[in-house]
Amino acid sequence: MQSDKIKVGMVGLGLVSTAHMKGYKSHPRAEVVAVCDSDSARVQRFAAAQGITETYSSYEQMLREAGIDAVDIATPTHLHAPMTRMAAEAGKHVHCEKPFSRTVGEGLQASDAAARAGVKLAVGETYVFITSHAKARELIDQGEIGRPMQIRHRHGQWVSRDQPAIPVGPLDRGWRVDPEQSGGGLYPWIFDHAVHFFAAAEYFAGGKIAEVYSVASRAPEAAEIVGGAPHDPYATAEQDIPIVTWTYEDSAMQGVWMRAEPLNGKFDYMRGFSTTIIGENGAIEVLGEGGHGLLWDGEQQHLVLHRAGKETLAFRFDEGQDDIWQSGISYYSQGHINQVHHFVDSILNDTQPRYGGPDGAHAVQCTLAAIRSAQESRPVRLHEIDQGYAAYG
Ligand SMILES: NC(=O)c1ccc[n+]([C@@H]2O[C@H](COP(=O)([O-])OP(=O)(O)OC[C@H]3O[C@@H](n4cnc5c(N)ncnc54)[C@H](O)[C@@H]3O)[C@@H](O)[C@H]2O)c1
Repeated sequence: MQSDKIKVGMVGLGLVSTAHMKGYKSHPRAEVVAVCDSDSARVQRFAAAQGITETYSSYEQMLREAGIDAVDIATPTHLHAPMTRMAAEAGKHVHCEKPFSRTVGEGLQASDAAARAGVKLAVGETYVFITSHAKARELIDQGEIGRPMQIRHRHGQWVSRDQPAIPVGPLDRGWRVDPEQSGGGLYPWIFDHAVHFFAAAEYFAGGKIAEVYSVASRAPEAAEIVGGAPHDPYATAEQDIPIVTWTYEDSAMQGVWMRAEPLNGKFDYMRGFSTTIIGENGAIEVLGEGGHGLLWDGEQQHLVLHRAGKETLAFRFDEGQDDIWQSGISYYSQGHINQVHHFVDSILNDTQPRYGGPDGAHAVQCTLAAIRSAQESRPVRLHEIDQGYAAYG
């Protein structure tokens, strides 16, 4: 490395890129020197706002011409694996957003390309970098609840701030509901989000998932939406997958994820993502992205530790106002900042990122099992999802 800073080129300058940028800007040894987006007006706007002079509307050209050590990929999902492979072949380290790929094989091939090139590959799985989640893992490692036995995720409605710092427009959302570009077939929302839930489920449990069983909602009045998905992914909640269950390779352990959006208009007092981790000797309740409504002793908390025979402890991680959700904690950007710092540090220290390509492909495998389970109304073992299995087409 010629300079003492890692020089980064970012590609895909939409919703999530601003959170990544905060990570690079706050790391003393990283600098975003080039940005790229196929929308040339957007790249100019973004570059001007962030004070970056080198701009590209072609990714290939940025890889060839920009003097960069690493790329940050925040494009739509169908581009993740091919862009990772191209970057690796050009000798660049890669930080790539989740879902890492649309099939397991595509993800593993990109991962192999990075290994062959000897570059670092970090998949941007925020849920294993959110501060409160990392604290839960630390408490588990310290033996505070004994062996984790059951993971219960719930997903309440994410409530946007009145004026989100990162604008989300309908034009940005087309790929999100496209069966092929999103990778999710009839279940684009699940494909985009379940990778988070499975990654967190394995992170908290410390074990691998072996089988997935989904419950699909098939509200008859929502039937006409199928095949004509609107831009707002929440509009399809009634025909999505509201419940996913799983068992681990250690068959004594299991987990569940429940979606309690304003599904069918039902009241939900807890917002955002939250998890209860049941251990042999205690339990942890922890808020994740956009989480709100975890009370202990009449106060809002971010993590509550219940231990058999010992006093209950409550934790807060006030990281400033959330920049996207009404949750009173900066979960959204802080998770990205933690993850980007980890990526930069893994380059500087020549260590393996703690969430890499095979991890990203594995979360995709779990997610494809969830979709297949909903479609076939049966439990699906992970090994049934072979490298070529896709949810679309
Ligand atoms: N970890 C998280 O919390 C989180 C949050 C949001 C999004 N994401 C992931 O990040 C990725 C991007 O999501 P987003 O919401 O920012 O999307 P977005 O639609 O807001 O932005 C994507 C950008 O990529 C650009 N683009 C498309 N094709 C391109 C190409 N060939 N070359 C260069 N630029 C191209 C688009 O013009 C757009 O500006 C998705 O895979 C999504 O799942 C993750």
